Order: sequence, then structure tokens, then C-alpha cells
Amino acid sequence: MNHPDSPASNDTLAWSDAFLLGHGPMDTVHEEFVDIVGRLQRADNAALPALMDELVRHLKAHFEMEDKWMLETDFPPRGCHMDEHAAVLASVEEVRAEMEQGDPAICRDLVEHLAAWFPGHADHLDSALAHWMSKLRFGGKPVVLRRDLPLR
Ligand SMILES: [Fe+2]
Ligand SMILES: [Fe+2]
Repeated sequence: MNHPDSPASNDTLAWSDAFLLGHGPMDTVHEEFVDIVGRLQRADNAALPALMDELVRHLKAHFEMEDKWMLETDFPPRGCHMDEHAAVLASVEEVRAEMEQGDPAICRDLVEHLAAWFPGHADHLDSALAHWMSKLRFGGKPVVLRRDLPLR
């Protein structure tokens, strides 16, 4: 349930096995991201600044970890993936600083954009990295068992 101060939409970001990419540490950090964004979507205005600080801390660690994996494994398309991380972190830090003026609307807007951005980023860029690392390690794509998806 959304807080009365939060946007009218009820579709907050929530974790599901559909987000699993088969790389344990990456899946763990993604679950943490989804949790923070979901809490931001449901939070009242007073809780936003502390949650935004948590989001900045999370994103720094999350992106640093993936960037490090890309550099260590010489992931070929790392340039655009690392650029996207830097751009997202810059936007989040900018909004966090602007919130000091007291207007929660820019934060709400950013959070909705992040919720819409994440599935595509995970699907295209992060999953390619997960496959790349798994291929280097095991010689194949990871086998992902998702509990809530029908078997084909
Ligand atoms: Fe990621
Ligand atoms: Fe990423």
C-alpha cells in the first residue's frame, strides 16, 4: 500500500524471480536495489531524505561492484554499461542535493524513473555481464531456476 503522500500509482517495484540473472552476488545486490526503490515509492515525504541517502550508498556499492567485474574480466561492451551507471548515479546525487530545497516532487519523479529503468538495465546490460562471467567461469550461460514462472 502506498502512503497518502506518495504517488497514486499502486505498482511499486517488487522483487520477483523474474529478476534473477543466475549470478549470486549480482542477484543479491539487485534484490537490495528493488527493496530500496519499493520503500521509496511507499514512503511518506518525511522519510525520503534518509531513504535517498541509503539509495546513494547502495548505488555507489552496486555500480562499483559491477564496474570492477567488467574491468577484471575485460567485458567487451563495458563502456556503455559503465557510462549508464555513472549517469544514473549523477542524477540520483543531483536530486538528493536539490531535495534540500524541500520539494519532494523531484524525488518522486526520479524514483518512478528508476523503477521504470531497472528492469531494462538488468535485462540487457546486467544479464549480459552475468552471462559473460558465468561463461568465463563455467564455459556456459547460467541456468536460472525461477520459482514463479511456468515451466516450458
Ligand atoms: Fe546491476
Ligand atoms: Fe549494471
